[in-house]
Amino acid sequence: MTTLRVAVLGLGYVGIPLVGACIKAGHSVLGFDTDDRVVANLNGGLSHVDDVASVEISSWVSQGFIATSDASTLTDIDVFIICVPTPLSDDGSPDLSAVRAASLTVAAQLDAARKPLVVLESTTYPGTTEEIVKPILESRGAIAKADFCLAFSPERIDPGNKEWDFQNTPKIVGGLTESCTDRAVEFYLTVTTEVVRTKGLKEAEMAKLLENTYRHVNIALVNELAKISHLLDIDFWDVIAAAETKPYGFQAFRPGPGVGGHCIPIDPNYLGHRVRTELGQSVRFVELAQEINASMPAYVVHRTEQLLRSDGKSLAGADILLLGVTYKANIGDQRESPAFGVARELRKAGAQVRFHDPLVESWIVDEESVPKMHDLASASAQATCSILLQAHDCYREPTALLGARLLLNTQGHIQLLSAGEGTNWMNL
Ligand SMILES: NC(=O)c1ccc[n+]([C@@H]2O[C@H](COP(=O)([O-])OP(=O)(O)OC[C@H]3O[C@@H](n4cnc5c(N)ncnc54)[C@H](O)[C@@H]3O)[C@@H](O)[C@H]2O)c1
Repeated sequence: MTTLRVAVLGLGYVGIPLVGACIKAGHSVLGFDTDDRVVANLNGGLSHVDDVASVEISSWVSQGFIATSDASTLTDIDVFIICVPTPLSDDGSPDLSAVRAASLTVAAQLDAARKPLVVLESTTYPGTTEEIVKPILESRGAIAKADFCLAFSPERIDPGNKEWDFQNTPKIVGGLTESCTDRAVEFYLTVTTEVVRTKGLKEAEMAKLLENTYRHVNIALVNELAKISHLLDIDFWDVIAAAETKPYGFQAFRPGPGVGGHCIPIDPNYLGHRVRTELGQSVRFVELAQEINASMPAYVVHRTEQLLRSDGKSLAGADILLLGVTYKANIGDQRESPAFGVARELRKAGAQVRFHDPLVESWIVDEESVPKMHDLASASAQATCSILLQAHDCYREPTALLGARLLLNTQGHIQLLSAGEGTNWMNL
């Protein structure tokens, strides 16, 4: 295998595991990030993402990996991979400023003599690679196809997933031309086991949005059915457990406090934006899913209020302990976590909010710090009511929640073995 000089732009949840896979494949890797703190930490062997340990970063550094915020050092690069954030602007539209900036960085460093491969991995709407990235790459005189190859390859990383990682998850690749796709497939086969070709760029871009919209819509479906089932006095968790025994044609999704992270709540907006601006239409499924999933934090608070009332208490003045404030179990990422909405609604109702989460150092909601409780047993015994938002492993320990007096479990598929006899608890 030829050793390539690879530059990864954007060293976050997506870029870091990719760096690791490239190093493991024997490539020479440079990491570029605009955040000097990220660069300093990485060069000092410190990880800032959940799935990659600091000891791994240290070993990369000792093998020659360098992180930099100096774009001029990105010389003689064979493969540029852009993994920068694609958030939403204040008005809810796609914010592609980081993609544009990273494309400009690449444009300035493109060496036509090497005919490099440039790949965008950031999640975005169909058309971005050809309409936004390509013109920027060509802005300094290089011509796509002739001077560089261009492809899109969506990242499917699932932080915290112990079974499926970068290496064993098939990688989708679509190029500007057949030969661009060939180049990208050839490269990705050096770092992963299976590569799936699409017809072109837009199909690869759209595949990622289909995957995330599918999750968004199905989570909304079970969230709505959970609310309805409660009103009909049906145990919806029991319903899911029964339905998922069907060996074909059904995939189980679970209700919860709402969706979070940088994918599910955001990516469908990219699709909605494209459809609106191109076709003047809306994607009705997306809008409905957004409405339902966004209503879940308020629903959690509504159910908490019912639990308190059943015990002769009210939200006003109650001391509420939130357990697990990240956007999913066993990771430390707070981005877009539904816990923010739950805390806001609780405060609005006059409750006092504290949190427990071994993966989160400090938690600020609307510029106000939420007190962190370190000892789970005494914190849950002291609280008027605890709400299990994310089922981190620590909450599954047999004695973890023994002392809780009132407990709302938003993760109903998790058997609360530890809820004590004195605990009055209910599922979402
Ligand atoms: N996190 C996930 O689970 C996940 C999964 C699949 C896809 N994605 C997508 O991948 C992309 C990256 O997401 P992430 O979670 O890794 O983001 P992140 O915020 O963890 O990391 C992005 C990094 O890019 C850096 N950056 C910003 N502008 C830059 C620039 N102009 N040049 C170089 N670096 C720059 C930031 O400083 C940051 O360190 C997004 O489009 C996201 O939607 C994320």
